[in-house]
Amino acid sequence: MKIVSIVGARPQFIKAAMVSKQLREIHEEILVHTGQHYDKDLSDIFFQELSLPNPEYNLGVGSMSHASQTARMMMGIEEVLVGEKPDWILVYGDTNSTIGGALTAAKLNIPVAHVEAGPRMYDRSIPEEVNRIITDHISTLLFAPTQISVDNLRKEGIEDGVFLTGDVMLDSFRKFSRVAEQKSTILDELGLQSKGYLLATVHRARNTDIEENLRSIVEAFLSCDETIVFSVHPRTDKCLKKYGLFETLFRAPNLVLISPLGYLDSLMLTRNAHKILTDSGGLQKEAYFSKVPCITLDESTGWPETLEDGWNILVGSNQDKIVAAVNDFSPQGKQRNVFGDGETGKIIVEVLSNDMPISNTLNLI
Ligand code: UD1
Ligand code: UDP
Repeated sequence: MKIVSIVGARPQFIKAAMVSKQLREIHEEILVHTGQHYDKDLSDIFFQELSLPNPEYNLGVGSMSHASQTARMMMGIEEVLVGEKPDWILVYGDTNSTIGGALTAAKLNIPVAHVEAGPRMYDRSIPEEVNRIITDHISTLLFAPTQISVDNLRKEGIEDGVFLTGDVMLDSFRKFSRVAEQKSTILDELGLQSKGYLLATVHRARNTDIEENLRSIVEAFLSCDETIVFSVHPRTDKCLKKYGLFETLFRAPNLVLISPLGYLDSLMLTRNAHKILTDSGGLQKEAYFSKVPCITLDESTGWPETLEDGWNILVGSNQDKIVAAVNDFSPQGKQRNVFGDGETGKIIVEVLSNDMPISNTLNLI
């Protein structure tokens, strides 16, 4: 088969790397980079570290409003699909690159396979939630990472073509944690001791674009006693500077501001953190995999399993709640095997390769 895979943003490079290699052993894969992320530390470094093949096409779309960005992606992807005539299009996660790929393929009657189908935050003001819902409703194969994702899809009437596969991010976490241990020198570079710091990332629109929320998060960080290593996403960098918050953070004795990390350094800092402060979906899962307490700077999560097991707590952007969690949140609970066995990439390729008809019943592996 010929399969066109669409990637464009940081988390998609990580997810695609776990599928692409195995896919190429059996099928022809055409990798399309939309160009949504283009900085070296948000894009190139992931291709190098995860040995993701160079994209056959880079659409170079760049940053702009949601509609303009998605429209430009769709125009570029349409041209690729019309020329390549693939049997499937494979999309990942919930970004504008995901919906751009899925919608374009659906209009050309090319079946869509969606990796990470089904998580819901039940809040349509979140751009990623809209992307997920639409992508899931126009997909033929839906690779759900968790049972809760399967249940969410069922509630929306989607049962055909749903496979419970586990989460590809567990595959990459397991595989690259070992590599990170050998290669990453980030702890030494930053002068950090294992468990001697908190790791923070912030990039959700609600936390960056609403000044009051970003200010509240910054105030919370400033009033913590522990060292906070803050990997600053370019979107956040822009907003911190716009609201006049960057200098204060930069000068604060307990803050270590760093540019976005490569995957290996990110894994190393995650696994050795005392706690994680984040609004990233991926980092919430990696904190759970690492058994590091996660303080989520959001009102809801696509990963309620991590809350149920007690390893994650939702604090939104509320300064008092953030500080209280930094001081007091110390989970000890047992973890369940809710994200699969780290073989999700293999399962996805097997399902895609099977010429099995999409049955009328829910397909659970
Ligand atoms: C996007 C995804 C989000 C995902 C995140 C992963 C959408 C709607 N959002 O958010 O789901 O969690 O990626 O990191 O698809 N910028 C740069 N350099 C880059 C890319 C972006 O400077 O290489 C800056 C630009 O100012 C841009 C801003 O970051 O306007 C936001 O980028 P964008 O891709 O629109 O959204 P993210 O916040 O990165
Ligand atoms: N990540 C990274 N460097 C960083 C921050 C994050 O490599 O500085 C990795 C990390 O593994 C995370 C993934 O990128 O799980 C996706 O992160 P992001 O927060 O950008 O996206 P989300 O998961 O929220 O969609």
